[in-house]
Amino acid sequence: MTTAQLLEGASLLNWRRLQLKRGGRRVDFDWLLDLAGGLSWSSLQRLLVEPQQMVQLKVALQELEQIWGLHLDQAIPLQHLVGRCPWRDVELAVSAAALIPRQETEVLVDLALKAVAGMSVGRWADLGTGSGAIAVALSRAMPSTPGHAVDLSADALALARTNLEALAPKGRWHLHQGRWWDPLEPWWGRLDLVVCNPPYIPSELIHNLDSVVRDHEPHLALAGGIDGLHAIREVVAGACRALAPAGWILIEHHHDQSDSVLELLKEAGLTSIRAAQDLEGIKRFAMACRSRSHPS
Ligand SMILES: C[S@@+](CC[C@H](N)C(=O)[O-])C[C@H]1O[C@@H](n2cnc3c(N)ncnc32)[C@H](O)[C@@H]1O
Repeated sequence: MTTAQLLEGASLLNWRRLQLKRGGRRVDFDWLLDLAGGLSWSSLQRLLVEPQQMVQLKVALQELEQIWGLHLDQAIPLQHLVGRCPWRDVELAVSAAALIPRQETEVLVDLALKAVAGMSVGRWADLGTGSGAIAVALSRAMPSTPGHAVDLSADALALARTNLEALAPKGRWHLHQGRWWDPLEPWWGRLDLVVCNPPYIPSELIHNLDSVVRDHEPHLALAGGIDGLHAIREVVAGACRALAPAGWILIEHHHDQSDSVLELLKEAGLTSIRAAQDLEGIKRFAMACRSRSHPS
């Protein structure tokens, strides 16, 4: 990154107008100004009213122009270009190795913590950890509870390690490479909380995704097979065996998969099954509990 830059608000606003004329979405440009430039949304709003104020940016305008240009020309996600992404109360390192953590997954974590509020959680797991976002959130919320983050991708796990080392309390989390429940076999029957944001995009929809997603986020993080439910079926099938009695599983899914996922959870013998909505009121999550009496 180059040196900081001090300039008059009016000049910055004029430069911002020119950049937006190149294309792209205002919301994305302002996100870049905030994260890479250090100009918060509220400071920008103040500047729009009082353009005579001076502004201190963390980087030179040319650097922001270059990032914006790469985003416009090659559809590279701004998060990859900046290398960071704010998520919940932290700033995660992100890269092409793993999915950029989404806002709805913040809701998934809130639901998970609510489900186990008042319960003594002895052990948690994050299946398909990617950047480690969920594992970081669970570790921070339950600093003395051991937890496990699993992913098939070695590259994703390396990124998860970076984030956990930087942001989570030390010594209580473990990373495992492998398929869903497999690496957790030593703890089967003892997992009180399992959170999973699996790949769930049906095959035929993959090529319709925005190129910023389709061409830059890992296929392994997106592709859920023909009906989008391949990973979810596998995760649900192992849940009764791996969850502790009265343990919870929470799964994120596509906008039209709620009925199917609830049915899978029912067929698997789980109880207290319910759907939950994202911030737009769409059923994007399913949660269920292993009954206390279910045979392992
Ligand atoms: C939708 S991404 C979720 C990433 C992260 N948990 C999040 O919410 O941002 C799904 C993750 O599952 C991983 N994955 C895909 N197939 C897997 C498998 N068979 N076993 C374990 N992890 C898998 C992918 O590598 C990817 O990191």
